[in-house]
Amino acid sequence: MPKIGNIELPDFPLLLAPMEDVSDPPFRALCKEQGADVVYTEFISSEGLIRDAAKSVLKLDIYEKERPVGIQIFGAELDSMLQAVDIVEQSNPDIIDINFGCPVKKVVCKNAGAGILRDIPLMVKLTEEIVKRTKLPVTVKTRLGWDSNSIKIVEVAERLQDVGIKAISIHGRTRVQMYKGEADWRPIAEVKNNQRMQIPVFGNGDVDTPEAALKMRDEFGLDGAMIGRASIGYPWFFKEVKHFFETGKHLDPPTMPERVDAARRHLQMAIDWKGEKLGVFETRRHYTNYFKGIPHFKEYRTKMVTSDDAVDVFAAFDEVLEKFGDFQFA
Ligand SMILES: Cc1cc2nc3c(=O)[nH]c(=O)nc-3n(C[C@H](O)[C@H](O)[C@H](O)COP(=O)(O)O)c2cc1C
Repeated sequence: MPKIGNIELPDFPLLLAPMEDVSDPPFRALCKEQGADVVYTEFISSEGLIRDAAKSVLKLDIYEKERPVGIQIFGAELDSMLQAVDIVEQSNPDIIDINFGCPVKKVVCKNAGAGILRDIPLMVKLTEEIVKRTKLPVTVKTRLGWDSNSIKIVEVAERLQDVGIKAISIHGRTRVQMYKGEADWRPIAEVKNNQRMQIPVFGNGDVDTPEAALKMRDEFGLDGAMIGRASIGYPWFFKEVKHFFETGKHLDPPTMPERVDAARRHLQMAIDWKGEKLGVFETRRHYTNYFKGIPHFKEYRTKMVTSDDAVDVFAAFDEVLEKFGDFQFA
């Protein structure tokens, strides 16, 4: 069974990917309930943390019920990253994850995120110092390389292991690819097949069906799957994958009452955590998926995503349940 430091995980664990404005405490709690084995926070700027920027600090909140949870930081400047590690430790996460994969220009141009893939010695150096700074297990999330001509992930992963990381998650795209094309899991399998690798190697990118997860496990031999977009507004994905692994059969999709219940709890947790205004606003992006596939749903969806008042959104959920309560999802 794979382990991240001393954290024991089940066979082929499913990890919730760090996702900006998505992987917040309410969403992580729902994914955990549905079977996610490890959850990660969205990325948090080291510079923001050390400036005590309120937005960054709020992202450090974790709930006991979601453990094991990893807090992900990004940056490219050693001193700020080390200070950020000290701040992150005070939130008592189970794991500290370093983001070496974000492809966004404003991050990359500062050499952070995937930008660091152009400077592997710096990547290794930062990681080594972070590992030395903390007693928590450190993990890395990265991409295959900067572009298709510079894929050195086998060597990179080995060097990161040698400076002490406890697991690596690899998104099967290069920075230049951003999110285009298909994720290529073959280089990730090469990392796993490297005889010197001992830490878990988790695959990421396009695991959007239980079959894809099975393929990642059986054909590519990876240690677990990190799941991002397939879970947005669909935390049941984790349970569906596990059910498929156990039985070879697809679980029935969640019923309308289950979806409404999840949407309600999601909104309530978000309000409890961030207050009504932000809670209502930031939960909106999940509703499309919660209620995907229902015909003539636009009127209700519009209510959910345009109302600023929680009472109205909760009322829209009630209305949906009344009108579509026995809708059969495909
Ligand atoms: C909305 C969104 C936000 C993301 N934010 C982050 C982030 O904060 N940190 C990170 O390492 N990756 C981030 N990613 C990348 C995902 O973690 C993941 O690598 C990518 O979506 C590929 O996996 P998937 O095909 O399962 O979605 C984000 C992706 C999306 C769609």
